[in-house]
Amino acid sequence: MIQYVSTKGTAPPVSFDQAVLEGFAPDGGLYVPKRIPKIPVSTLKNWKGLDYPALAFEILSLFIHDTVIPRDDLKRLIDKSFEPFEHPELMPLVPLVSDENSGHTIYSMELFHGPTQSFKDIAMGFLMNTVDYLLERRNSRLSIILATTGDTGPAAAFAAKGKSCIDCWPLYPEGMISREQERQMTTLAAPNIHPVSVRNCPDGGDDLDLVVAKMFATPGQKEALNLSSVNSINWCRVMAQSVHYVYGYLKVCDTVGDPVHFCVPSGAFGNMFAGFLAREMGAPISCFICANNTNQTLHQVFSTGVFKKEDLCPTLSSAIDIVVPYNFWRFLYFIGGEDGKKLAGWMTDFETQGEVRFDRQMHARIRQGYTSCSVSDKLTLETIRHFWNHQGYLLDPHGAVAVAAALETAREGGIDSGAGQPLVCLTTAHPAKFPDVIKKALNAENGLPRAACHDTIEQARRLDESFQRCDISELERFLIRDIENHL
Ligand SMILES: Cc1ncc(COP(=O)(O)O)c(C=O)c1O
Repeated sequence: MIQYVSTKGTAPPVSFDQAVLEGFAPDGGLYVPKRIPKIPVSTLKNWKGLDYPALAFEILSLFIHDTVIPRDDLKRLIDKSFEPFEHPELMPLVPLVSDENSGHTIYSMELFHGPTQSFKDIAMGFLMNTVDYLLERRNSRLSIILATTGDTGPAAAFAAKGKSCIDCWPLYPEGMISREQERQMTTLAAPNIHPVSVRNCPDGGDDLDLVVAKMFATPGQKEALNLSSVNSINWCRVMAQSVHYVYGYLKVCDTVGDPVHFCVPSGAFGNMFAGFLAREMGAPISCFICANNTNQTLHQVFSTGVFKKEDLCPTLSSAIDIVVPYNFWRFLYFIGGEDGKKLAGWMTDFETQGEVRFDRQMHARIRQGYTSCSVSDKLTLETIRHFWNHQGYLLDPHGAVAVAAALETAREGGIDSGAGQPLVCLTTAHPAKFPDVIKKALNAENGLPRAACHDTIEQARRLDESFQRCDISELERFLIRDIENHL
């Protein structure tokens, strides 16, 4: 049975259910599997025709022992999680362009056909269903707090709505997410969902993450308040996201074993870490392009070997306005030889000195199989406009960051172009979540094209909103009081 250990190395190993219900490990580290299961090419070949839920079942079975969740129950949890998806293929792959210079065919893998129109729905439905299932069996409840840059909150709120064992507090930085994203949390009218708009967060979601991490680190508080979190610190999220890489790979490869590249719009590195996991398991992914906007902590560490926190600069792709990509610690744990002590030292340097400078050898290991790119708002707008005008295909700002980074990297010869290998860009949100950006890109002040609208987002405009407000300086006290009231 796979056990889960902390990246900081000092917490005792736990089983899957404990790792999921706890969120953070008790030593402040993140849970990772003690060994990453391997998928032989022959097995991948057998999986080539599977639909998404069937593939998810095969992959997740490798991480979840059937004494923890019996196979029939696991299958039911997975199937239930994808019921609210609106596209028959769940995650269609659309060929976008054949780049003449590099020979790559660039695909958009549309990950936004879930109930709240972002890729967060893919793992969040499964996570909430699993958490509720495990809690019911234990006859217990959880208070879930989570910080959002705009998409995790709606996905979590939708997935937790009406669950009998869960109360959920999505926290968002006031004025730093789109109104459409905000309404997805505030119009649910569910007694177990308690959205909080938080004022004065100059570093956006990162400021909220700090408060959440502090609450978990305060001795006794987690137990007293039944706390857990479902940000991508939660192992179940990144594990479930690894499936879409294997699925995308199997869809676009001619022959299983051929290399494919992926380009990922990145903030907290959760989705990129899921890709790392897929590759470690055996998906023949040749190169990952890590696409940042101008908040480029990740681009900087891949290109220079310096992992450094800069000030946050608000951009049009606001969901990836993140300056502390906390899942990068998980990646460093594996790249650095699964040495918890070494990782804890780097984390302390990052906290106390604001940066970690990796030596040449470690930098070379970090870069192996990765490249990166930072995309400006100007290029994001141009990319949205170009694909709409020339192909009638509308990208959201995050998908546009990925496509722009892919084209730029391919043009500069940053990835191996042998025999025109497919390059899959993960398009992570529906454009209807960002109407102001789309208006700006298309110069469409007088109205948006149908492709920029979505029925559920339109309907939410007509519903009453309900949320609480609080200043960041008061947030911890406010949450403790509110959670105690609901316990
Ligand atoms: C639309 C969108 N794209 C990309 C990302 C980045 O994902 P991650 O934070 O896992 O890097 C996010 C999440 O923050 C998002 O909401």
